[in-house]
Amino acid sequence: MMNALRRFVQMIFGLSIFEFPGLNALRVLAYRAVFDIGPNPSYISNHVTILLGHRRTGPTTTPETRPHTIRIGARVGLSANVSIDYVGGIVVGDDVWFSEGCKILTHEHNLGPERVRLTPESMPVSHLIIGDGAWISARAVILPGCNYIGKNAIVGAGAVVTHDVPDNTVVAGCPARPIRTLKEAEYTVPMDGTSPRR
Ligand SMILES: CC(C)(COP(=O)(O)OP(=O)(O)OC[C@H]1O[C@@H](n2cnc3c(N)ncnc32)[C@H](O)[C@@H]1OP(=O)(O)O)[C@@H](O)C(=O)NCCC(=O)NCCS
Repeated sequence: MMNALRRFVQMIFGLSIFEFPGLNALRVLAYRAVFDIGPNPSYISNHVTILLGHRRTGPTTTPETRPHTIRIGARVGLSANVSIDYVGGIVVGDDVWFSEGCKILTHEHNLGPERVRLTPESMPVSHLIIGDGAWISARAVILPGCNYIGKNAIVGAGAVVTHDVPDNTVVAGCPARPIRTLKEAEYTVPMDGTSPRR
């Protein structure tokens, strides 16, 4: 029932008309009514889809994440056409920004002949934690091999992320590789005005 409601909300409130001043606040209210999204999202744009990639459950429970659940922190930004599959369980920190068209995937299809059978064994799932202040740039794809995107980390535009991303690290390319470590002066400053994250 909740899944159907979530899909309905996204179908209606994802429409571009909710980009108009005033109406965007209504969209934010609607998304927050059906998802666990913290206070003061900076922005939720058109056609943001947060969905279950499939309905099977895999053994991915961790102390922080549970399959089929997504928890999103405070002051996040979700740009147009962001797509998040949370079948494996996702926790997103505070002040995280998702740029246009980035895609988060938490399920895989095995490479054997059984891959089209849609059984739990043929579709392993994986959890994902995204640290406070991370930025997933436009058109980046986060694959199930990645379980952690660090605090303040930046995933470059178009990157295909196959492994964990350490805190304060910029990754880019396909497959994504670290290109540098951020200096402290470049760490995210939370939008509530408190000091930079360390
Ligand atoms: C990754 C990014 C943040 C820049 O980080 P940076 O540390 O300043 O990196 P630089 O620009 O100094 O580039 C360093 C190297 O990485 C490469 N690089 C930078 N961004 C890259 C990317 N997205 N993909 C592949 N390579 C990239 C550069 O070509 C450069 O390589 P070179 O040394 O061989 O010339 C930026 O390039 C990026 O991808 N921004 C996202 C923009 C976006 O999504 N905007 C939407 C806003 S809502």
